[in-house]
Amino acid sequence: MTGPLLEVDGLVVDFSRRRRRLRPGEEPPRKAVDGVSLSLRHNETLAIVGESGSGKTTVARSVVGLQKFGAGSIRFHGTELRTVSRRPAALKREIQMVFQDPRSSLNPRMTVRAIINEVWRTHPAIAPRDRATALAELLDDVGLDPSVADRRPAALSGGQCQRVSIARALALKPTLLVCDEAVSALDVSVQAQILRLLVDLKEEHGLSLLFISHDLGVVRQIADRVAVMRRGEIVEFDDAEQIFVHPAHEYTRQLLDAALDLAGADD
Ligand SMILES: Nc1ncnc2c1ncn2[C@@H]1O[C@H](COP(=O)(O)OP(=O)(O)O)[C@@H](O)[C@H]1O
Ligand SMILES: [Mg+2]
Repeated sequence: MTGPLLEVDGLVVDFSRRRRRLRPGEEPPRKAVDGVSLSLRHNETLAIVGESGSGKTTVARSVVGLQKFGAGSIRFHGTELRTVSRRPAALKREIQMVFQDPRSSLNPRMTVRAIINEVWRTHPAIAPRDRATALAELLDDVGLDPSVADRRPAALSGGQCQRVSIARALALKPTLLVCDEAVSALDVSVQAQILRLLVDLKEEHGLSLLFISHDLGVVRQIADRVAVMRRGEIVEFDDAEQIFVHPAHEYTRQLLDAALDLAGADD
């Protein structure tokens, strides 16, 4: 297929509502996302990295359709995307999101089986009689034992919960997985396992990943290309190798230095 899978062009999200007169010397309120453009190729992992508050989640939510945007466009397979309520079902299915906190994003009262079946009930992709087999396959895909199907989130570890979240996102066979700080709440060793899983799933299912993280160490393990965000803007967008070895922007260098300091502090 030609052309990128996802194209974000001049995206603007502004949460400040009222325009009031600024006091002398006061800076105008910043837009959460201020003219972000990026593209994601088929079967690529594109990371957005930047410190807290830089606008990463707002970009992710716009792509998934949870956030209205004021200006700019988001195209998927060349089709203009609006918010979720105005997307055709087929498009909703194709873009799925994995959230940061695996526990709070899963309903504590439901078993894993019920959590996944709920997805299949609202988007009837799998006929009821095929669901048990499909669930077993899905759990196997994310490296969970079949017995997990009848447990609730409280009976699972953080890593297992995140595998369930990934299974839920995969249940509709999306082409694009948006992972917003998907490993940030996990211990380093569990992080590595989930990153490995995402890489394997990407290869096996031909997925593309929009991988969002404030953690350059994590991004380095998974990204093909990296967009560095700061204060609502992308300051650098390049191959991961370039970003990590020859960062062009001063801010990227600062982030790298800070990440190195942190890594050193662990020893
Ligand atoms: N729903 C909202 N209402 C008002 N401001 C918001 C909302 N969501 C995010 N913001 C603001 O937008 C900016 C970017 O936030 P966010 O996209 O969450 O950044 P990041 O994910 O990089 O930490 C921040 O200043 C944040 O306070
Ligand atoms: Mg965020």
